[in-house]
Amino acid sequence: MFPMDQSKSTTSTPILKFRDGIAVREFHEDDVSDSVQCLNEPEVRTFLRNRIPSPYTESDFKWWIDRCADQTNWIPTGPFEPDPQDSTIHRLPSHYAIVKDDRLIGAIGLEMKSDVYCRTGELGYWIARPQWGKGIMGSVAPAFVKWAFATFGILYRIEAEIFSGNDASRAVLKKSGMKFEGRHEGSIWKNGQILDGDFWGIVRTEKDDAQ
Ligand SMILES: CC(C)(COP(=O)(O)OP(=O)(O)OC[C@H]1O[C@@H](n2cnc3c(N)ncnc32)[C@H](O)[C@@H]1OP(=O)(O)O)[C@@H](O)C(=O)NCCC(=O)NCCS
Repeated sequence: MFPMDQSKSTTSTPILKFRDGIAVREFHEDDVSDSVQCLNEPEVRTFLRNRIPSPYTESDFKWWIDRCADQTNWIPTGPFEPDPQDSTIHRLPSHYAIVKDDRLIGAIGLEMKSDVYCRTGELGYWIARPQWGKGIMGSVAPAFVKWAFATFGILYRIEAEIFSGNDASRAVLKKSGMKFEGRHEGSIWKNGQILDGDFWGIVRTEKDDAQ
């Protein structure tokens, strides 16, 4: 993993780079066909929430990329400021494309929560079916978690919920330093089945502050 200079982050500069042409960068409009193809793959959708429309269309991607480009959804960078008055405060997007040779093969991001949970981000990710099992998310997610803590001082906690049976995702969360926190038994209704929701979390340490 080779972290990039954050001050140079633009729509085309990766925030993270890995071997074999894998990188994490902002979404581009040109990602539309890859995104539509990947997100219509039933196996990818099996472990994702239903808020991703099915079938997934080009206009769904257009809605998504507009949301990602809307700076009011971006996360403040730098040390935590409890009451930021300055509207010029630097922010970066919360969600990113995972690309191989600049073609989209997945996504990763944080959904910041609100109210008393405003220092918690929920981690979400997926990889295109043909790319499963090649060690991609096992490299990207741990690096992204590290990068997020180092970049966003507001972020005190990262959490994730996985559906029971998602063994690959469980392994990814473990590799990212997250701990299993408990099970919400039978909380999920997905594809005509009741499943358990497994909760994982990690909190900021002094090591994260030092980066
Ligand atoms: C979960 C997902 C992102 C994993 O991505 P990936 O790039 O295939 O993962 P990797 O190849 O890096 O494997 C990660 C780890 O999972 C393990 N793993 C992979 N497939 C597995 C399986 N079917 N059962 C158990 N472990 C598995 C790997 O061995 C690896 O662990 P290791 O490094 O300790 O050996 C991918 O399967 C996916 O997109 N699934 C659908 C969407 C999803 O589940 N998103 C997460 C919702 S929170």
